[in-house]
Amino acid sequence: MKTFFQSAFILITVLLTATGADQVVYAQVGETVTLKPSGKHKANKHYLSWMNQDRELAWRNPLGGSGLSKDLNENWKDMLSLSGDSLIIKNIQLQHFGSFVFRWTENHARFDKEVFQLLLLQLTASAPSPLLSEDSPSLTCTADSPQNHIRPRIHWLNPQGEKMQTNPVRVKAAGQHTGQWTCVVTVKQEEHKGKISVTVVDLSPGPPGPLYTSKNLHLSIPCSIPSYISWEQIKAKGLQEVHWDFFQAKPGTGLISDDPQRLYSLSLEDPPTWKADRSRGLTPVADLKKGNLSLTKRVTGEVDRGDYVCTLKFNNSVTLSRTVHINVLQIISFPGTDLISGQPVNLTCSLGHPLPSDMQLKWIPPEQSTRMSLTSDRLIIPEVGTGDAGRWKCELWQGTTLLTSTVTLLKIEFKLSMWMLVIICSATVIVLLLVLVVILCRRRQQRMRHLRHRLCRCKNPKPKGFYRT
Ligand SMILES: *[C@@H]1O[C@H](CO)[C@@H](O)[C@H](O)[C@H]1NC(C)=O
Ligand SMILES: *[C@@H]1O[C@H](CO)[C@@H](O)[C@H](O)[C@H]1NC(C)=O
Repeated sequence: MKTFFQSAFILITVLLTATGADQVVYAQVGETVTLKPSGKHKANKHYLSWMNQDRELAWRNPLGGSGLSKDLNENWKDMLSLSGDSLIIKNIQLQHFGSFVFRWTENHARFDKEVFQLLLLQLTASAPSPLLSEDSPSLTCTADSPQNHIRPRIHWLNPQGEKMQTNPVRVKAAGQHTGQWTCVVTVKQEEHKGKISVTVVDLSPGPPGPLYTSKNLHLSIPCSIPSYISWEQIKAKGLQEVHWDFFQAKPGTGLISDDPQRLYSLSLEDPPTWKADRSRGLTPVADLKKGNLSLTKRVTGEVDRGDYVCTLKFNNSVTLSRTVHINVLQIISFPGTDLISGQPVNLTCSLGHPLPSDMQLKWIPPEQSTRMSLTSDRLIIPEVGTGDAGRWKCELWQGTTLLTSTVTLLKIEFKLSMWMLVIICSATVIVLLLVLVVILCRRRQQRMRHLRHRLCRCKNPKPKGFYRT
């Protein structure tokens, strides 16, 4: 019994010393591997050999001479080189994995060695890139176990460097899963890494929130294929349909209709072309082959409010889509924009639905108007004056960001009021009376002069003949 324990103990010690010194190196097929000694040998004193399955692969003598073995078999042809004391294996293939021994001898006698375990790391995707969500894409990492060690621990890092504990790991059909995935293999607290590139077919991310616009502005409703995926790759994935739909917002409520209007469909021949179903003034952009599926238009008004949905359908029932919510800021003037002075006017600035609590409206009256800037959505003017004519601007703010603004033009005609009429009539009457008084006075004066004249003639009579000539 005692001897059993003794021998078991010895065996364990041997394993520990043998494996304790082993260096574990992981590599993927096709990689270039560098086996680098830890530096316990003395290059100017020792004869160095790199061995694989008891065959010397490369050597270096204390004088600095070095070379590859002459009898390397086909397996190793053109694959090896030395860089200092390190062995470099180029484009490694399955048959090259295994143990490598770095050995040094002094005077053909005492020798020591370091063992390298070159182990296979395999990173595989369930389908070739680009992936579609329907491929239920997953990545698997397989790492060979080092001799005499428990199985290595494995986790993944996604392209953003976030740790994913599962293996295989599910790849989501979202753009952010495109990029380099890293498999991390942990053996005895030491990490070994392998990388695999993944492309997931997806549309570029849409705008982070709704878009705000107003009448007469140019609007671009974005939808595009990211530049790292070509149109050919998309087609090769079985693209069947591309279309744009519009879900109009119901006036007054802001609720989105659930009855879509087909705006455009793409006919997929080469080159692909858009066919308008009901364009509503929208125009597709020209560089379609570059993956830009955006629509543009000049905003008409509240009829443009709603959700615009860009959809790509693949023949395995995978659907990719992006929704862009368009808000149109609009001023409504009641009873209209052609007004008569003295009329009451209500100006309402709105998106067609109650404003989110973090947004404010700001009114900017025409320059010559004496009215103050206001921040309510409704402006009530009990009696407009000619000073209120001009451009009324309404701005939509979110914190310190101006989202959009819109303008309405008020035309105001001057009209006489009752009182003005009374005053004007009275003034006219007064003027007429004055004129009358003046005329009467003149008449009276003339008559007086005439009378005086006659009296004079009586007092100082002049010869008749004098008057006659
Ligand atoms: C697509 O075209 C629109 C309009 O020309 C442009 O504003 C937008 O930047 C383009 N998008 C991409 C991703 O090229
Ligand atoms: C303007 O709004 C006020 C308050 O809602 C209302 O009492 C008034 O009748 C409105 N005037 C017009 C001309 O619409």
